[in-house]
Amino acid sequence: MLESLYSNARLYDLMFPQPSGLGSRAQFYLDLAATTGGPVLELGCGTGSVLLPIAERGIACQGIDLSSDMLARARAKFEASGVTAGLHLGDMTDFDLDERFGLVFVASNSLTHLHAVGDIVNCFRAVRRHLTPGGRFAFDVFNPSVQVLAGADGLRREKQRFADPEHGEIRVDVEERYDAAAQVTRGIWYFSTEGEPDFVVSSVEVRSFFPQELALLLEAGGLRLVERFGDFERAPFTGETPTQVCICVAA
Ligand SMILES: C[S@@+](CC[C@H](N)C(=O)[O-])C[C@H]1O[C@@H](n2cnc3c(N)ncnc32)[C@H](O)[C@@H]1O
Repeated sequence: MLESLYSNARLYDLMFPQPSGLGSRAQFYLDLAATTGGPVLELGCGTGSVLLPIAERGIACQGIDLSSDMLARARAKFEASGVTAGLHLGDMTDFDLDERFGLVFVASNSLTHLHAVGDIVNCFRAVRRHLTPGGRFAFDVFNPSVQVLAGADGLRREKQRFADPEHGEIRVDVEERYDAAAQVTRGIWYFSTEGEPDFVVSSVEVRSFFPQELALLLEAGGLRLVERFGDFERAPFTGETPTQVCICVAA
């Protein structure tokens, strides 16, 4: 049966392990949180890998995620670390926390799970309503590469392998097709062990945010793009950089 990748938070964390040290993504959002002074809200906080280090610095944090499994794992990590945060089951396209934040952010391509223009604009409007005066909205999404999109040809290929203490070595195969009308890459991810092929089969669908449309979508949501970097070390954004790391303010 096809399930969401995010119904398997344990597998997600094994597949995308924390880098040693903080890692450049978490460091970027931590620095931003420290500069704005908080409080901080992460949309699509998942298992908390970016939000937890911010809360551990004593900055008030809240997170919203659509997956109860991801949130349960995040709650366990916060509890183990002895820090508190408001972690809410909810949809980033429609939320009301009755609080304003110095920083709202969406890390690790979570925004690419919003596909319809209406959902994206609704998310940006909700963000705007939750910003303090002078507050920042930051996010990172991949920079769509036409070569990569053209390579999404529907063939099943090995993506990666990782070790799972419960199952042994896990092989992940991915089959992807790019839907150019929707700007969405629709993928099926197959998780297999030696003895149990395809023991989890997940759908993963990500929208491409092309650089020139991004500023317009933000504007439609009442936000203004003030800085765009090509990586988390703040390298200039170009057509070749893999990521769009964006910082916005209320328009
Ligand atoms: C790629 S993971 C990133 C998790 C976390 N931000 C991190 O950096 O590890 C994407 C997360 O976005 C969440 N998500 C997807 N659509 C959402 C929505 N409409 N509202 C809230 N969360 C959503 C998923 O459940 C998942 O936990």
